[in-house]
Amino acid sequence: MAASTSMEVQGTVPLTVDRLSLSFGGNRVLQDIGLSVLPGQITGLIGPNGAGKTSFFNCLTGLYSPQAGSICLGPRHLERIAPAGRAALGFSRSFQHVALCPELSVAENVMIGLDRQAHAGWLSAFLPLASGNAEREAHRALALAALARLGVAGVADEFPARLPPGVLRLVEIARAIAGKPRVLLLDEPAAGLNSVETRDLSNALKKLRSPDLIVLVVEHDMDLIMEVCDSIHVLNSGRLLASGTPAQIRVNPEVVRVYLGDDDE
Ligand SMILES: Nc1ncnc2c1ncn2[C@@H]1O[C@H](COP(=O)(O)OP(=O)(O)OP(=O)(O)O)[C@@H](O)[C@H]1O
Ligand SMILES: [Mg+2]
Repeated sequence: MAASTSMEVQGTVPLTVDRLSLSFGGNRVLQDIGLSVLPGQITGLIGPNGAGKTSFFNCLTGLYSPQAGSICLGPRHLERIAPAGRAALGFSRSFQHVALCPELSVAENVMIGLDRQAHAGWLSAFLPLASGNAEREAHRALALAALARLGVAGVADEFPARLPPGVLRLVEIARAIAGKPRVLLLDEPAAGLNSVETRDLSNALKKLRSPDLIVLVVEHDMDLIMEVCDSIHVLNSGRLLASGTPAQIRVNPEVVRVYLGDDDE
């Protein structure tokens, strides 16, 4: 399935969500969400704690099964495609908490992101077989390219325990982009970073903008969101409250009332 599905969605296509609703028991987590996310841009998804942002990501990746609505990558409906199939179609994400493997070097951690594309598989990658070695070299080259794109190629052979949180976060994002995704979902990439690290992250994210990549960023750091994003969607209590440019969102009275506040953050 993976090979044929990835062929079908080549080209520059939007991610379109229509009338998406998700609930757990009586808890209506997402209600009637409709939005479109374009490639070539960085799109923000913001809102108060519990608004449904991570749940929305989980619907996109197939981890959660919404009760209603559609999710399309270009013309292709994704509702019936399991998480592995969506990964094969090019969905990639980073999580709210750093999750690098301490026993592996930075480059090896990034190579994990390429595992889903592996043909020879992990076993042959670690055995002295010609195909495994060639594949491992190719994966290392892709990992180094991803690290370089985020400005952290210099730590490729270091181990995570020796590195500061800001660098680890960039490594995680490198892992998410190493397989050349079509849709990149970043959940609170600035969480736990200091202001200097957040600035580095902000600069790195801006460089990810590319014509065939959809980037969706969930974040509570409004300085980062306003600086990095081309457009922003605001969720509140599971509903889409507003969509617009950073300038529009910043002065939207409803968004100011429920989330941004006047001057108190
Ligand atoms: N697996 C689940 N089972 C039951 N309820 C869930 C589940 N996942 C999320 N929820 C509920 O969905 C609502 C939205 O949670 P979600 O984590 O999506 O919010 P969020 O916007 O990401 O918040 P934060 O900014 O704090 O990360 C919450 O009420 C949460 O309890
Ligand atoms: Mg969340």
